[in-house]
Amino acid sequence: MTSELLQKAREYEQRVSAYISPSERPVFHLTPRVGWMNDPNGFSYYKGQYHLSYQYHPYSTKWGPMHWGHAVSRDLLHWEYLPATLAPDQPYDDAGCFSGSAIELDDGRQLLMYTGVESNIGEDGVRRDLQTQCLAVGDGYEFEKVPQNPVLSGDPLPEGFSRQDFRDPKIFRNEDGTFGCVVGVRTDDGSGAILLFESPDGFDWHFVTVLDRCWNEFGRMWECPDFFALDGKQILMTSPQDMSALGLEFHNGNGTLLLIGSYDKAARRFEREGVQAVDYGLDFYAPQTIMSPDGRRIMVAWMQNWDTCHAQPEDKWFGQMTLPRELAFRDGRVVQQPIRELDALRGRRVAYFDVPVQEELTLRGVYGRVIDMTVTVRPRGSDAYTNFRMKFASGSQHYTSITYTPLTSTLRVSRDHSGTNRDFVHVRECFVRDRGGELKLRLILDRFSAEIFVNDGEQALSLTFRTPLSADGISFQSQGKTVINVEKYDIVM
Ligand code: FRU
Repeated sequence: MTSELLQKAREYEQRVSAYISPSERPVFHLTPRVGWMNDPNGFSYYKGQYHLSYQYHPYSTKWGPMHWGHAVSRDLLHWEYLPATLAPDQPYDDAGCFSGSAIELDDGRQLLMYTGVESNIGEDGVRRDLQTQCLAVGDGYEFEKVPQNPVLSGDPLPEGFSRQDFRDPKIFRNEDGTFGCVVGVRTDDGSGAILLFESPDGFDWHFVTVLDRCWNEFGRMWECPDFFALDGKQILMTSPQDMSALGLEFHNGNGTLLLIGSYDKAARRFEREGVQAVDYGLDFYAPQTIMSPDGRRIMVAWMQNWDTCHAQPEDKWFGQMTLPRELAFRDGRVVQQPIRELDALRGRRVAYFDVPVQEELTLRGVYGRVIDMTVTVRPRGSDAYTNFRMKFASGSQHYTSITYTPLTSTLRVSRDHSGTNRDFVHVRECFVRDRGGELKLRLILDRFSAEIFVNDGEQALSLTFRTPLSADGISFQSQGKTVINVEKYDIVM
């Protein structure tokens, strides 16, 4: 039965979303139906459609009591809103239905597993909400929270694991049909760990092991874990809070981390072999992955960062998802590429080959704010160049830019002229592979965001901006001589 709180959210979102014209949203990136969005939730392929829910506060463009908003798509690009699925309407989730995931049961129903946050005031009068894992079962559209909720509380956990910060279950099926889930938890050293739980049927859960721990090395609390096999490796993905920068790594505070290793299934032992940041832009957090029906590991994330959430009073929505990306493990790294479904939306093509660049240069037909553009840069002849810069979303007052410095093999993205109202945390730099001055950039723009894939996805950089849509210029410039190829497609829905 639909609770009063859920009914109210559904009526509200239906009524108020009528005042948001599609022209005020990105074209192929999912935004909240109304109000606020954060993490992707319940990302799944279920009964012929991709389902993507999200942390949702319909009533304002700021974070508030968490609901789950809901959308479906057949190609991960055309999204259709559905009524919100969860509201904080039970004693065990009265302070919010936090992040979680979805899986199909043997009987064809869909199971949502999420964190219920129960408001709780300690004996000292200090608020210490409790977090437990809860279930809802449904048909992909309507869900019932199960009577046995919460199905996983912190009580059976060993000493030293928090009951207050214990969240974001990511559920998966094991090969033998049983269920597993990973959950983030705060540890008594103030940092975090990822715990593994198992269940024969998805309902009855028990604690199995600690898969990996932070030991205050990579941030503190580890949020939003995911655990999957990728091209012979096992990946434990998490979003650590409060990361400290290390060289050019981890500058976002709230970062994203891939723990890359191997997994001994019988012993339930994850052996970490290396780490990698997921994204080097300014706005990327809480990614979640699925396996598509044709066997691709697809990741989507919240294209925002807790430190860069500054909705303006006139905003009708806040927060958006990244473009879904295909993951692979190649040459020792996890690489990511835009989902191939995007190719089908490529419209008008403009291409240039072997264009010499030095002074700032624009090319006829190369502009736009909803585009898929690949630029390859190489030194001209034997001349070395000291840097190459591409500006985009550029107008009389604004631009966003990428600058490559071959000497240090660093790529720098900057949006400090991008219309944001806080002029800090707007530059990030990362190392890219030295290819003798050659560089390949694929830039996806969708009105209010840029996603840059470097050298076929070895690095990805995501960021949002608020420049007026008339700022649609693109220019190229280099110190020292370069030659570029440009292939630009308008994206047409
Ligand atoms: C990550 C997060 C999750 C939590 C949710 C609350 O962005 O903090 O850990 O479940 O957001 O909205």
